[in-house]
Amino acid sequence: MQAPEHSLRITRPDDWHLHLRDGDALRWTVPWSAAQFARAIVMPNLKPPVVDTAQALAYRDRVLAARPPGSDFEPLMTLYLTDRTAAQEIARARASGAVHGVKLYPAGATTNSDSGVTDLRLVRPVLEAMQREGMPLLVHGEVTDPEVDVFDREAVFIERHLQSIRRDFPALKIVLEHITTSHAVDFVLAHDARDARGAPLLGATLTAHHLLHSRNAMFRGGLRPHYYCLPVLKRESHRRRLLDAACSGDPRFFLGTDSAPHARGAKEADCGCAGCFSAMHALELYAQAFEQAGCLSRLEAFASHFGADFYGLPRNRDSIELRRQPWSVPDSLPYLDTRIVPVDAGTELGWRAVCDAASQQQA
Ligand code: NCD
Ligand code: ZN
Repeated sequence: MQAPEHSLRITRPDDWHLHLRDGDALRWTVPWSAAQFARAIVMPNLKPPVVDTAQALAYRDRVLAARPPGSDFEPLMTLYLTDRTAAQEIARARASGAVHGVKLYPAGATTNSDSGVTDLRLVRPVLEAMQREGMPLLVHGEVTDPEVDVFDREAVFIERHLQSIRRDFPALKIVLEHITTSHAVDFVLAHDARDARGAPLLGATLTAHHLLHSRNAMFRGGLRPHYYCLPVLKRESHRRRLLDAACSGDPRFFLGTDSAPHARGAKEADCGCAGCFSAMHALELYAQAFEQAGCLSRLEAFASHFGADFYGLPRNRDSIELRRQPWSVPDSLPYLDTRIVPVDAGTELGWRAVCDAASQQQA
């Protein structure tokens, strides 16, 4: 048997789905992501949401101002699609060069999604404009129908809405975000159309926590709120399909952490928030998942090539090192004036990313 590798050097990765929050939180969130990732698609679900280009540019400035000294971390901004989004906004967003996607949250689907779309028919002119401008639609793929079982919401969204969006806007670039089911994998695999550059027209991001955990993690020995995110973790057979997709070397599947920080008290509560914080150890978590699946050699393309190719951006030129150096994820960390519990708090991970000083400072 071959001796296991002790070090792994990969092209610097990008995070294609990230929540940085706003205000004071930026000084805390941005350094974590900047330590591992060169770029990130920054979600617009602030309170109030980022709904136009001017707001996205202002938010971008706030993110840039929160970078640690010397960091060239690049936030790739997104707009939050609402019932009232004007089709003309898309050309403005495209022309800014700073907006890289428009996020569809069905109203009420997840954290800060109250301003989301209530009826997809209302946004057809916007989708038309996005198709024309080559602006990707980033989809939180869950129905909000209270009649639908929470574990079925992704599958039902695909059936009720995504099939028809795909059919009606065949040249629209679509990312199905943080997929959690075999239905989502099958939907992506069934669509192999390419854009003019030869990049896929349909892709999907995968989080580390959905690759590592089934829904059992939420109930291990009691209720575990720090594993509650949306879309919610699914049964083990789905997790295995996600892992197969991530490890397949298919360029339609790429990294998006969905790191979504919530203070400890907001999660350990009567009505706890959805969202897992994983930015501090994202690469280590993905490496753990890929190694467990015996496909560590596929990590680089998934983390560092396919997302950039999908978005039509150059791959990063620098690299990052991972060392086989077991370490324990802290039980909690200081977060603003309180604390936060990272994903897999207290567990041992086999790999450690060699990051710049900014992140070590916080640990
Ligand atoms: C995200 C958040 O907290 O902003 N929560 C989550 O559970 N993933 C929102 C989202 O991406 O759904
Ligand atoms: Zn998210």
